[in-house]
Amino acid sequence: MPRIVEVKAREVLDSRGHPTVEVEILCEDGACGRAIAPAGASRGSAEAQELRDEQAPRYCGRGVRQAVQRTQEVLKPALQGLEVTDQQELDRRLQELDGTPAKRYLGGNTLIATSLAAAHAHALSCHKPLYEVFRLLARQVGCRCIPDRDSDYLLPLPMVNMISGGLHAGRQLEVQDFLIIPCTARSLAEALEMVFAVHRSLGELLRSRGYEANLVADEGGYGPKVRNNEEAIECILQAIEQAGMQAGRDISLALDVAASHFYQRGQYEFKTLNKHLPTEAMIDYVKGWVDRYPIISVEDPLAEHDWTGWELLTQVIGNRVQLIGDDLLATNLCRLRWAVGRGIANSILIKPNQAGTLTETFLVLREAQRAGYRLILSARSGDTEESWLADLAIATGVGQIKIGCITRGERLAKYNQLLRIEDWLGKRGRLAQPFA
Ligand code: PGA
Ligand code: ZN
Repeated sequence: MPRIVEVKAREVLDSRGHPTVEVEILCEDGACGRAIAPAGASRGSAEAQELRDEQAPRYCGRGVRQAVQRTQEVLKPALQGLEVTDQQELDRRLQELDGTPAKRYLGGNTLIATSLAAAHAHALSCHKPLYEVFRLLARQVGCRCIPDRDSDYLLPLPMVNMISGGLHAGRQLEVQDFLIIPCTARSLAEALEMVFAVHRSLGELLRSRGYEANLVADEGGYGPKVRNNEEAIECILQAIEQAGMQAGRDISLALDVAASHFYQRGQYEFKTLNKHLPTEAMIDYVKGWVDRYPIISVEDPLAEHDWTGWELLTQVIGNRVQLIGDDLLATNLCRLRWAVGRGIANSILIKPNQAGTLTETFLVLREAQRAGYRLILSARSGDTEESWLADLAIATGVGQIKIGCITRGERLAKYNQLLRIEDWLGKRGRLAQPFA
């Protein structure tokens, strides 16, 4: 089995133009794996911390030279000689070398890039597609990768951003993501065709109402200054009808409220409504959306620390919609266990860089599968041109993926890889069914 001979990091840029860490792992057989860390803007407080050169003036303190240096001085000597296929041992060493629960010493950014670079090198070294290697690794950790018996691979149903608000679009709206789910699609190719039709018709509709619809937000969707969250939802519903489809049947809606980011002093601050809602009122408000609109999935409808609210909300709408914890659960095993124990949420967003390493990501995935939670693999708002997320979704059979809109290269790298793998797999792959 090929051993690691060289580990090298460098500073590159992400889709927001911010510095990020790229790691390269070279093996004795010449295989060289490489990966870049993505970065979030609306981060949960429990996620793995990034290591950035806070004190340095360059890149406004966001540079990653320290991470590059620690890779050279700390990671490289500890990983040299290790078999690249032994991902669990590699990830164990990464965690041990970091030695902090929040990954502050080496940084979650350095760790995820290193962990993924090893998986890439593994795939190259044994001439296998990345999704096969991810599947092997996920199984080694005990994940159940094929949820059904009809096909070898389950392709993820995409949840696609149409309009952005919150931290991804200058806070013109409180809700961060207004998304669509192409429920009646029979393949990924068909799903994207449906998404294209809605995206196009939404652009026309926004323009006709005098809103900006040429520029794109962080995740590639529109970022119009509509009056409020309801208008954003209604525009999308109208765009679906104008594209010749039926909202609630062909296409359903999803929201990522990312409520932690407008929760202040125990209240949800809706500037667009000129109102501050305490938790109970916020629960009613979110329930109102679910009652009125064909919404089948809601992410972070309450703040990450509002656990009592989450408990109540799960009791109120948890049997009707997918309630996803993102900032709430932060792809963190302890937080997930706590949530499961208290009956909080019923689904989890999986972001590998929130966990820190691939093995930790698989451990969370396994735990969520055992608890019967739904899983949604997700990109970050500051992402990269890499496509490993698509391979990871297909390998693990999670059934859902959230990448952003169908514009911007860093989003397309993943959508196009999904299309590519769907084509390669042919009848061996099947698109996941909608869940509600
Ligand atoms: P982030 O946003 O990458 O900025 O955290 C994505 C999300 O909240 O789902
Ligand atoms: Zn989110």
